[in-house]
Amino acid sequence: MQKQTGTGLAVALILGSAAFTATPLRAQTAGASKPAEEVYKNIVQLKGMPADQLGPAMTFMSSSLGVECTFCHVAGKMEADDKGAKKTAREMIAMQAAINKDSFRGQLQVTCFSCHRGSQRPVNTPPVLDSDAPAHSAMPAMPAASGAPAVTADQILEKYVAALGGADAIKKVTSRVMKGAIQTGGSESPIELFTKAPNKRVSISNGQSYTAFDGTAGWMGNTGRPAREMSATEADAAGLDAEFSLALRLKEIFPQLRRGRPETIAGAECETLNASRPGRPPVRLYFDKNSGLLVRMVRYADTPVGRVPTQIDYADYREMDGVKSPFRWTLSRTNGRFTIQVKEAKNNVAIEDAKFAKPDGDVK
Ligand code: HEC
Ligand code: HEC
Repeated sequence: MQKQTGTGLAVALILGSAAFTATPLRAQTAGASKPAEEVYKNIVQLKGMPADQLGPAMTFMSSSLGVECTFCHVAGKMEADDKGAKKTAREMIAMQAAINKDSFRGQLQVTCFSCHRGSQRPVNTPPVLDSDAPAHSAMPAMPAASGAPAVTADQILEKYVAALGGADAIKKVTSRVMKGAIQTGGSESPIELFTKAPNKRVSISNGQSYTAFDGTAGWMGNTGRPAREMSATEADAAGLDAEFSLALRLKEIFPQLRRGRPETIAGAECETLNASRPGRPPVRLYFDKNSGLLVRMVRYADTPVGRVPTQIDYADYREMDGVKSPFRWTLSRTNGRFTIQVKEAKNNVAIEDAKFAKPDGDVK
């Protein structure tokens, strides 16, 4: 793998493709429809997988075992089978598929992570006690019966819209320009974000590193170099991030919104919604029970070996022109995370559509 510069990494992290900036452009620009074996040189086990799932699949395996790419690969020669671990991984992919087929009706229940839990060698004996505390608490506490009827998905959504300022106020804001900082690994660099309803967005970090969604497709690039189009998986994620008034569009985007089990995030009780659309992995949304605001979104990228999660935590909601929006969000993946802190924002600034369009030649 090549060294990443701070900003390059940050932007790559937005899409979770940090590891792939080193792969040949040929592979990166391949459309989603091409099978991996037509794009890569030595695909034996994952034949038929869409090429754009290879990246997330490799991230999934690395994170599951807690290893770097070079545990299985010779740097710069990903197609080579020189390392025993790569061969073992192929056998493991086959084994996992057989387990799921034979015992779990073909559903992806058992994955690398189920056994490996972040280590190279799975542990097959339970640990002995290392303190005098009782092994199990006598009885799990029963949830208190509140008597109040459970809220519905619609009510959770309505509360969210109201908490933001109400549908009317939300509709009056149609663009926003933000300036702030992107913080990753202890370093900070400037970032500018241009967003426009219904779903256009471009972020520019360090004045030169672009990540954009033009309403239908996404692209990335650096000043002075050609932009590259996002894969289908990347564009799907970028498109969701680009939704200007997500609160008002959730029902449209996700034909199925079901209330999930309430959960606690950092001490705050949250309602959850499981949002799904045909042919795509689900998205989970967490709303603070008190404020009603969206505090977390977890989305997934599908791969044949397992789902790769991306979590975004929203915070520092501030009101502008009668509408609240998060001024800070942290995007966490299995292999890295970054935080964007907005310092200045302005609503309803005129932004030309060209700002979001993929440049024909080099990014300027
Ligand atoms: C646990 C082992 C393992 C790890 C860790 C791993 N890979 Fe792989 N990788 C494989 C296997 C196995 C294949 C071949 C899959 C097949 O045969 O279908 C492969 C194939 C590839 C290919 C296709 C090469 C070609 O042209 O045939 C690329 C690119 C790749 N990996 C990149 C990565 C990157 C980048 C990382 C780190 C994020 C990574 N891999 C981590 C096991 C691993
Ligand atoms: C059902 C449990 C299980 C699943 C699922 C599983 N593994 Fe393993 N894996 C093992 C066990 C057990 C070992 C250790 C075998 C040994 O020590 O000889 C192992 C060893 C390995 C090794 C060798 C590690 C080393 O130190 O050399 C690799 C690489 C590996 N697994 C990759 C994977 C990948 C990639 C996946 C997912 C596609 C996966 N495994 C899924 C149980 C599992």
